[in-house]
Amino acid sequence: MKYILFSFCLVPLWSMAQYESVPGNKVRHISDATGVVVSAHPLASQAGVWALKQGGNAYDAAIATQWALAVVYPQAGNIGGGGFMVARDKKGIIHSLDYREMAPEAAHKDLFIRNGKADTQLSQKGGLASGVPGSVAGIFAMHHFAKLPMKTLIRPAISLAEKGFYITTQEANNLNRFRKEFLKWNEPNMPFIKKDEWKTGDILIQNDLAKTLKTIEKNGVSGFYSGWVAESILKSLGHYSGLMSIQDLYHYQVKSRPVHQFQYNGHEVLTMSLPSSGGILLHQMLEFATMENLYKYKVHSAPAMQIMIEAERRAYADRSQYMGDPDFVKDFTSELTHPNYLKSRWSSFNPEKATPSEHVSQSKPSLQPSEQTTHLSVIDKEGNAVSITTTLNDAYGSKLMVTGAGFLMNNEMDDFAIQPGVPNMYGAIGNDANAVEGRKRMLSSMTPTIVLKDNKLRMIVGTPGGTTIPTSIFQVITGILDFKLLPEESVFLPRFHHQWQPEWISIEPNFPLQVTKELETKGYSFKPRGTIGRVELIHIDHKGITGVADPRGDDAIATENDILPDF
Ligand code: DON
Repeated sequence: MKYILFSFCLVPLWSMAQYESVPGNKVRHISDATGVVVSAHPLASQAGVWALKQGGNAYDAAIATQWALAVVYPQAGNIGGGGFMVARDKKGIIHSLDYREMAPEAAHKDLFIRNGKADTQLSQKGGLASGVPGSVAGIFAMHHFAKLPMKTLIRPAISLAEKGFYITTQEANNLNRFRKEFLKWNEPNMPFIKKDEWKTGDILIQNDLAKTLKTIEKNGVSGFYSGWVAESILKSLGHYSGLMSIQDLYHYQVKSRPVHQFQYNGHEVLTMSLPSSGGILLHQMLEFATMENLYKYKVHSAPAMQIMIEAERRAYADRSQYMGDPDFVKDFTSELTHPNYLKSRWSSFNPEKATPSEHVSQSKPSLQPSEQTTHLSVIDKEGNAVSITTTLNDAYGSKLMVTGAGFLMNNEMDDFAIQPGVPNMYGAIGNDANAVEGRKRMLSSMTPTIVLKDNKLRMIVGTPGGTTIPTSIFQVITGILDFKLLPEESVFLPRFHHQWQPEWISIEPNFPLQVTKELETKGYSFKPRGTIGRVELIHIDHKGITGVADPRGDDAIATENDILPDF
């Protein structure tokens, strides 16, 4: 029997009808001048590198990776959701794209209020939960910077959807976990529902999704926003009281936003501006860290932790108060990141004890962690760099698959403050700045980021994790720049998260308890939770490129030196 070399395992040719999901390395050191993709799934990273090998650049790779994620990573990869891109090309030109979902025109402030009370079931499930998807328009917008035809870039995804691929253990567990929800919102023949349990290595085939992708391949962006795909979206949402209209889909707009830029510890940080809160939060937290000379302390030491927790507390209090879609509400970015403001905001920091959140502001929501989004980091051999975070919001979005079109819709309407002070699924609260309004974008925490040193690339980084996104990026950046960890150490390090409300600090299961005990004596309280985030990092220095894929998931690195599947 003939075998072909397939990354790390040998696959008999008879099984080539499907694709193997090979767990990739978590850390790869590569000489520079090699293209690298790090994403949530080995096949998606490989699809990106495949595009590089066809003569594409980092944008081509990012596009092919996103299409592939929509097939092989259905919990967050998507065409029914939205995202943000921050990129820097080989000439040093920077740009960002906002392809966040928009509220349907008919949405209004009281959309999710029933008998005077906010109903989060409605903002999280069913026909009202979805914003107008931006991903397909976003991918076509970034295609202006790419080299290959879209037909080429979408090919791996179509092939993976049609021929199927072997699912990972994590995917099997998740599909089993959400079975009841899939049954509740869909016909029993939808591809994620199986008579018996999903097992590692089962093959997932998605024929309807392949049909949709082929329609996009043929008709371009309008293959999604008009015609039978658009009509199917409206029908599926309408069946569950959705109010999205054909005009909403037709008028969806990608926006080019200013890249949020600032200096930190001798580096330049390029990150996302509103309607993501991520860039402002990261800026504020890093500025607070500078005021206390964070680099003087050891990682996970009590003083370092205390500075970082108090920085997170103050930044997230501002998030709830001031941030929303800048097309609708005043943009307070310059006020919130002004050195004088940040100095006065930090003046209440007391190294002897915790600052109670109610002294920073008011109201006490609860946190229910449940999260899925996905990030991809890409570099090509010419030095183009792309950092993209994209999401359906919750794992598998609203769980509602568009009948006949095979893709899941987002439940991004829950990222609005559906009533002032009522926590969303990440425990985030907000007020008028982020109230529901027709055609408005809901506030995000997604923080696709690029870090430069002396005008050269140093990091391309991002993560999922809802409101924990900015704190994870904060911890990875300070891990490398302040605590002098290796890139992989900084990503593997146990994480913590504080967001002003609730008062406690959540910690990953393996977090060192010695330091939490020490901080408890100063008035801090900690609660263990599941893992936080899944960081995809490309780090560049004089030794070359290091790709780091978060060990918390199936995340994987692919490089141009790899042998790839024949997409
Ligand atoms: O835009 C946001 O901030 C959220 N919708 C992101 C959700 C998320 O990260 C879920 N992830 N694990």
